[in-house]
Amino acid sequence: MWWRDAVVYQIYPRSFQDSDGDGVGDLRGITQRLDYLSWLGVDAFWLSPIYPSPLADFGYDVSDHTGVDPQLGTLAEVDELVAAAHERGLRVLLDLIPCHTSIEHPWFREHPDWYIWSPVDGPPNNWVSAFGGPAWSRDEQTGRWYLHSFYPEQPDLDWRNPEVVEAMQGVVRFWIERGVDGFRLDAIDRLIKDAELRDDPPASGDFPLPLRQDAAKLKRVYSGNRPEVVQALGSIREAAGEALLVGEVFLPTSEYPRYLEVLDLVFAFELLFSPWDAERLRAAIEPAAALERVAWVMSNHDFDRLASRVGPEHLRDAALLLLTLPGAAFVYQGDEIGMLNGPGADPPFDRAGRDRFRHPMQWDGSENGGFTTGKPWLPPIDPQERNVAAQREDPASLLTHYRHLIAYRREPGDGFRLLDSDPGTLTYERGGGVISVEVDATSG
Ligand code: NOJ
Repeated sequence: MWWRDAVVYQIYPRSFQDSDGDGVGDLRGITQRLDYLSWLGVDAFWLSPIYPSPLADFGYDVSDHTGVDPQLGTLAEVDELVAAAHERGLRVLLDLIPCHTSIEHPWFREHPDWYIWSPVDGPPNNWVSAFGGPAWSRDEQTGRWYLHSFYPEQPDLDWRNPEVVEAMQGVVRFWIERGVDGFRLDAIDRLIKDAELRDDPPASGDFPLPLRQDAAKLKRVYSGNRPEVVQALGSIREAAGEALLVGEVFLPTSEYPRYLEVLDLVFAFELLFSPWDAERLRAAIEPAAALERVAWVMSNHDFDRLASRVGPEHLRDAALLLLTLPGAAFVYQGDEIGMLNGPGADPPFDRAGRDRFRHPMQWDGSENGGFTTGKPWLPPIDPQERNVAAQREDPASLLTHYRHLIAYRREPGDGFRLLDSDPGTLTYERGGGVISVEVDATSG
């Protein structure tokens, strides 16, 4: 169980390092930067999707689960990357997207019965897409309505069809045979839906994670988070063997036990969205820590940058918290140098407004931050202000702080207990010591 206390570094491949000057990051670029990850001291990295994709959802609309987007590289370059990572003792996680495909995936036309279709001429229920609007769209070619939990370009697979299960197991085995060490499972609470396609009931009470307007009105009990998900996940586990499976379950912590019956870890999203306030942080941390198998996370490619969310003044404390909580921790590329939200692009690439969180990594103080010799697909934000090269040299930098915290984790000892403290600090016992994180005083 190498992953128990692992630090996993999230790489957004299009924005990490470009090796061929086309302005888009690629696999060769990642391989070239592996020494940086070794220096930082992380145990593993997770690659956001590397598969061929029409880019409606920037790789999360997959048109071939066992291929590589030509802009990012080739299968041979995946092999090189995995080998180079393993030589350095770094483990490699891929993003597995089992709930939907791109509408341009050949499966959509070759195996329409692998997808979920409305039995009537129109949406059969009130389900909504995570990005807003109905979760059903009409397929112009056939006139039938199909389900999409995300963009209309991402039709949902029908996990009640054994052929889908088998196909996805084949995908998992394909990558395991190529040497990958695990997967981050995308949107896994949506893997299986109600067989009768019943209406989701109105939302009751507070949902602790942000939802878009339509989605916030409904309680997701039929369009996802089904008890049957355990069995469906079991088939992924069967193919994955001992490989690490980390689930993206966008639900309150109280819903995680079902997923942990099969998965090794689930992301602790309540921490990611917690205000920087002692009481709220405690409330997010305590139940998640009790599960003993959450992956602590404070930002990723979908949400505000950590620096923009908690404020640059809290970054050192945020790193201290993230890297001393008990269990695995995920660090999103660029957070270790304090990158902020960027301006995004006009017109936007991502219709859901997430370009701002995906600007290129800033390696040095040059114009393009050492990311590319060409024109970057998203502009650099402020490489002169924040970059790896300068912070590596500076013993007082945020980057050095991250590196020290990661090194310290090697000898944490067991034990974790939240302690009572004054409202301006979050204090806990960790291993033999006591850690105090400065937070905003609780407003009540
Ligand atoms: C979660 C991913 O992190 C996000 O980027 C994507 O849009 C959705 N799942 C749909 O695949």
